[in-house]
This record gives sequence, structure tokens and C-alpha cells, in this order.
Amino acid sequence: MKECKKLITERRAITFFDSAKEISDDLIKEILETASLAPSAYNLQPWKVVVAISKEKKRILKEIAFNQQKVEDASAVIVVIANPKAAVENIDRVLESSIELGYMKKERKEVAKQRILSVWEDQEQAKRKAIRDSALFSMNVMIAARVYGLETHPMDGFDEKKLKEFLNIDEEMYVPMIIAIGYKDPDKALLPRAYRFKFEEFGEII
Ligand SMILES: Cc1cc2nc3c(=O)[nH]c(=O)nc-3n(C[C@H](O)[C@H](O)[C@H](O)COP(=O)(O)O)c2cc1C
Repeated sequence: MKECKKLITERRAITFFDSAKEISDDLIKEILETASLAPSAYNLQPWKVVVAISKEKKRILKEIAFNQQKVEDASAVIVVIANPKAAVENIDRVLESSIELGYMKKERKEVAKQRILSVWEDQEQAKRKAIRDSALFSMNVMIAARVYGLETHPMDGFDEKKLKEFLNIDEEMYVPMIIAIGYKDPDKALLPRAYRFKFEEFGEII
């Protein structure tokens, strides 16, 4: 319990990464699969990622991200993609697994499938759901990274159109954020954490 609070408390948006440090593909996969334990409505998991580790790809991504240096200096850049077609693409596998695990009776599959697909047919709903659940996944990426002593920096400061062109991402997809991941430059100091509103300023208990 205390461990989890520590991971949340210690996470910061790291501005200065050690550009000499690399991370292995296996570690990236481990972090992303841990993060994919994030909840999503109907377990549709409407996220995809492209992970840039090559120096050249990161350099171009930096330009697309309005020259934010951390994009080039981080060991990797995780491009989080929210997939508004997730229901169509994932529904069968998700429902079949629900049947196998005893969540749902086989006879109910078709009715459930049609109900879910009809909601996701509405483009606004599909967009909202895909971005919402991808954001939950993204938060998990940042927390999971801390487990391995890695630092992250989420960013939405980039030209989404150029990013999609560069990475050949389908036009219908959304990119809610990119996440730089790596090790902090030990020679640079971070400013103190930015102000957070107190509960009384953002909440009420009724
Ligand atoms: C979706 C998202 C987009 C962000 N985009 C940028 C960005 O483009 N550039 C940047 O310097 N910081 C960006 N940030 C970082 C925030 O400014 C930072 O998280 C916030 O100031 C709080 O600091 P902390 O994360 O260290 O507590 C972004 C954060 C989020 C969640």
C-alpha cells in the first residue's frame, strides 16, 4: 500500500533525460504489458502503441513535438494511440475470453456484441471512450515505469497530423499523448512539484 503511494508520489514529468542511457525492448514490453492491466469499458482495451527507440526516429519525433528536447534525449518515446475502431476489432476475442472464464454464457454473446457495437458506431462516443481508456493505460505506463526506476514525461505538445503521417498511423486514430521514458540526467535538478489543488478546491463529499 505504502509502496503504491510512493510510486505515485515520486512520479514527476521529467524534463531532463540522460541521453546516453538505453532501455531494452524486453523492459519496454514488460512495462507496457503491466500497464495494459488498466481497466477499460467492456475490457475492449482501445489502445495501441508505437515505441520509438532509434536515435533518428526520436530526432524526427522531437521536431514533430515542437522541438521539445526531452523527446530526443529519452531512451524511448511511447506514442499512445486511441483506437475508435476497438469495438469492431476486439469484441470477438474479448467476449470469447469472457465466455471461457465464466463471465458470460455463450448464448448471450451475440446480444452483448450488437449492443456494444451499436454504442461504438457513434463516432463521438467511440472517440471519447477510446481516449478515456487510453488515458488510464497511459497513467499505468507512467506508474509501471517507476517500478523499474524509470522516469517519464507525458506530452501533448506535438503536431498530431505530422505524427500520424510519420508513423503511418491510420487517420481515424487519435494520439492523446506521447510518453518519453528513460533515466533522469543526474546532473540536472528538477523544480519542486507544481501546485496541486486541495480536496476542498476540486471536490465535495455528499
Ligand atoms: C496529457 C499531458 C500532456 C502534457 N504535455 C506536455 C508537453 O507537451 N510539454 C511539457 O513540457 N509538459 C507536458 N505535460 C506535463 C505537465 O505539464 C506536468 O505533468 C504538470 O505540470 C505536473 O507536473 P508533474 O507531472 O511533475 O507533477 C503534459 C502532461 C499531460 C498529462
